[in-house]
Amino acid sequence: MQDALIFLLPLTLLLVHIVSRLRLRHAPTRKAAYARLTAARSALQRMLHTLGLGQPDVYVTDRFATHRLLVHGAAAGGAFSDRPPSIVPSAVLSRRRHYNINSAPYGPLWRAVRRNLTSEILHPSRLRRYGPARRRALGGLVADLDRQRASGGVVLAVESLREAKFGLLAAMCFGGGVDAGLVRAMADTQDDLVQFFLGLRVFATLPAVTGLIYRNRWRKLVELRRQQEQTYLPLIDARRDRASRHGEAPLYVDTLVDLRVSDEHAASAGTRRRRRRQQRRLTDGELVGLCSEFLGAGTEPAAAALQWIMANLVKRSDVQRALRKEIDAAVGADADEVREEVLGRLEYLNAVIMEGLRLHPTVPMVLRQVMAEDHVVLDGRRLPAGTAVHFPLARLARDKTAWADPREFRPERFLAGGEGEGEGVNLVAAAGSAGEIRMMPFGGGRRICPGMASPCSTSATSWPTW
Ligand code: HEM
Repeated sequence: MQDALIFLLPLTLLLVHIVSRLRLRHAPTRKAAYARLTAARSALQRMLHTLGLGQPDVYVTDRFATHRLLVHGAAAGGAFSDRPPSIVPSAVLSRRRHYNINSAPYGPLWRAVRRNLTSEILHPSRLRRYGPARRRALGGLVADLDRQRASGGVVLAVESLREAKFGLLAAMCFGGGVDAGLVRAMADTQDDLVQFFLGLRVFATLPAVTGLIYRNRWRKLVELRRQQEQTYLPLIDARRDRASRHGEAPLYVDTLVDLRVSDEHAASAGTRRRRRRQQRRLTDGELVGLCSEFLGAGTEPAAAALQWIMANLVKRSDVQRALRKEIDAAVGADADEVREEVLGRLEYLNAVIMEGLRLHPTVPMVLRQVMAEDHVVLDGRRLPAGTAVHFPLARLARDKTAWADPREFRPERFLAGGEGEGEGVNLVAAAGSAGEIRMMPFGGGRRICPGMASPCSTSATSWPTW
């Protein structure tokens, strides 16, 4: 069977590649081309499944099943915590030896790097120390928008938002003194990676083989990674021998350089004492991957969420007026800024953000993969190891049986007495009180987004970095 797999898989991939390329050339639009590719992929999956190789994907749209599978313990047939093989560049290029938080298999490495991010950087007590950096980024954003407005052309608010957000995260990662041109170069490479990301899906299976078939893509990936290493590694090296300065907000890169993770190969057979000794530092590849993840995962979904919220505000002048009224009442009509300590009191603003996140989740899908040790049961049947389980977020949040007029942008539903009251608490706990999940823009269960509000917070306006 193993021999058959080694022979069959590359051959089939090659066939599918050739066939789909021929057909793609005649596809009238990119959308049609994408639909054909998806159809080819499903056909391949069905074929492999028929041959007894691989498992078909499963889609879960029921809100009770979503809760049980992601949040409940194994006894209830759920709580699996791994994702399908990652296509993030560091994992693909290192043949799955270098992981970031997102791509790491559930285990000691994932625990160590995730705990480092949540406790050293995103914990509210730490986040408070980035207040000055946030104010600088916000000042820069407002000045940029004003400049565009004054020049009389179209105001590209989304670009300004993304730039400001990336700049803030770069300051939290590498410090505020990094040259602006270098930060822009990092943002450009990150942007190229985001644009290129879907193209990387072909490397999810057997990258050694698919890398040969899709040579141009592979070369581009290597080039983007080289650019990242060229910009990140000198900044990382500069922090290795730093003198710690009292009272300085910790930089993400410092916490990573100082971090020790268990050396899993050496530790597997060791005693507890030996295990402690067999800790290692993160490799350069891991450091670049983790910094890139921090900048990318922190920028894109937040910028996209703000874009959707603004699009809805443009369409709804009544919502704009209500927001203005609430803000004026809280800080006065002449105030230049809304201070962070006021944000938590702005209930209507909170409702607008929650409704934006519900109606337009910016990450389309939460993904899990059943591992051999998992006991995941769906519709009374145990899912076999290897099954990829998809949770489509927009379907979940637009469920007619859970929300009234789910396709309407209606912030009021998140005000006191509304059907979404308290949903912010559920987002944090990822556990609806009735054992259901009605929306999960930040995912759910053990792999829930660490970038969302801290566990003690119940308000969407307390997003850590805006
Ligand atoms: C509006 C803003 C954001 C949205 C909508 C968002 C959404 C998500 C979603 C849906 C997931 C997958 C969760 C799952 O599989 O259950 C995720 C994972 C992740 N996010 Fe976010 N995110 C946001 C901001 C951030 C920020 C600011 C950071 C860090 C600076 C961040 C870092 C991560 C990381 C590291 C993971 C992987 C977690 C793991 O595998 O343990 N995100 N995010």
